[in-house]
Amino acid sequence: MRHTKLTCGNIIHWSPKDGVGELQTVMVDEVLVMTWVSNAEVSKCKKVEVLPPAGVVSGFRAYPLNIPGFTFYHALQCRRKTQEFFREELDKRRKNNGENDQPIQDLMGGLMNIKDEEGNHLSDTEVLDNITGILLAGFESTVVVTTWALYYLAKYPNVLQKLREENLSLKSSKSELLVTSDEILKLEYTMKVVDETIRLANIAGFVVRVATKDFEYQGYTIPKGWNVIVWLRNVHTDPKNFDHPLCFDPERWNGSMLPENFQAFGAGPRICVGNMLARLQIAMFLHHLSTGYKWQLVNPDAKVKYLPHSKLEDGLEITIEKL
Ligand code: HEM
Repeated sequence: MRHTKLTCGNIIHWSPKDGVGELQTVMVDEVLVMTWVSNAEVSKCKKVEVLPPAGVVSGFRAYPLNIPGFTFYHALQCRRKTQEFFREELDKRRKNNGENDQPIQDLMGGLMNIKDEEGNHLSDTEVLDNITGILLAGFESTVVVTTWALYYLAKYPNVLQKLREENLSLKSSKSELLVTSDEILKLEYTMKVVDETIRLANIAGFVVRVATKDFEYQGYTIPKGWNVIVWLRNVHTDPKNFDHPLCFDPERWNGSMLPENFQAFGAGPRICVGNMLARLQIAMFLHHLSTGYKWQLVNPDAKVKYLPHSKLEDGLEITIEKL
């Protein structure tokens, strides 16, 4: 519910001049608050924003040269600073341990208290690594997909119209501005728009696996122990898997989708843990955006850059005004 209020509140304060920079702030706030910050700690979000998770993200696919001046080195520095922020909070909680019997109900609290069958807790380093991992995995992903949604909706007005109609219908059926996650998840067309955007955005271009045994693939033997790259962008844009794959068509989600054809969140035991959260956040954002605003692309033919994630080179410059 806190999430609903934030999305709503932030968009309400969007001014027509604001572009994607503001969108990123809104979405980062969302991810930050939902991910690990407890109610009592919400005000700290602003402090986290000045931390450099973006610097870490750019190191994801950089050549691992730990030498000053290289992206990888910079990413490690940013990671260290990010973890220092959380260590301060962790140390404070450890110090207060015992004074407060009720652990704080957020991600850090959960990780500090979780134990295995033998009663072992995570070490501080493991707690911090888990938090940093979730922050980074959730930092740019949802933001970038949401910017792609704005892009495709501007390019496909017929889709935007259907999306708007569905969301206006929900809005008019309610006396209050806030919507719940249950209501959002029932918006069938909106959820198809979200999935179609995620398919085409391909922000995780690939996932990596290690072969646990020798296997044959299309006449080739992949030996045990080899790294295998699953090129998700290829899976999602292969005409064998999708008709007119580069066309933004939420209706293609009308039937059932073969799981092997849609792997934007990966697959198996390491599937993205944030997948439901991400889909919900994007849908909720689109609800408030489509019912309150109209927008246009400043550069409809903007180029795309692919590292570390596929993004529009102009950062999605838009003009936006209230409906
Ligand atoms: C549209 C948005 C997102 C996309 C497309 C996405 C995609 C992915 C992909 C492809 C993986 C690798 C899965 C694999 O190897 O099989 C992954 C892992 C992960 N994602 Fe996401 N993700 C998104 C949003 C999020 C969010 C919002 C969070 C958390 C708040 C998150 C947390 C994680 C974590 C923790 C992992 C590592 C899981 C593991 O290794 O066990 N993701 N994500």
